[in-house]
Amino acid sequence: MSDQPYSIDRSSNSRRKAVEEWLFGLDLVSAEVRDNIVTAWVSSWASSQHERLEDMPFTHSGAFYPLMQHVNEVTRAGVDLARRAAADWGKPLDMDKLVSILILHDVDKPLLYVRDGENLVTSQLYKELPHGVVGAMLLKELGFPHEVVSVVATHATNAPFHASTHEAYVLHYADMFAADHAMLEMGRQPFYQRKH
Ligand SMILES: [Fe+2]
Ligand SMILES: [Fe+2]
Repeated sequence: MSDQPYSIDRSSNSRRKAVEEWLFGLDLVSAEVRDNIVTAWVSSWASSQHERLEDMPFTHSGAFYPLMQHVNEVTRAGVDLARRAAADWGKPLDMDKLVSILILHDVDKPLLYVRDGENLVTSQLYKELPHGVVGAMLLKELGFPHEVVSVVATHATNAPFHASTHEAYVLHYADMFAADHAMLEMGRQPFYQRKH
């Protein structure tokens, strides 16, 4: 066993096929970016404890909500929002970057939440590096553009600060929209209802 929290898996295998079948939005990016997005998810999955994509959780506490579902909800909402943003904010968004950010913002979650018998708990890595930062490290290693790396690194609601590009805003609102849907489904308090 390596002492590294994850390793890059570029092998063409059944995992690649499953990831390609799962992810919404792969047809919206160039072939090279698509390949890199799939490698990122395959690497996280293969380095994780989760046997099937379906086993990956959105979060560790409360009822199980599939990460698979959350990721596609975020990408679909983000792609819709991007059209609005391009028209109303007057700036076209870079689809290769935006879709990479949407699909990959939670790529580290399979490494941060693990199963302990019946329960989902946080992993050792969760206590060593913040959510978002681990994903950003993986994406940096795969050669993703700096903007994708920085937005993923700082997207979490509790990050010390957030990026200010249009792509970062689109991710944020798409992520909150999808996360609150997950919270409602799980019977947990949505972000919108929390008092600060
Ligand atoms: Fe996240
Ligand atoms: Fe998310």
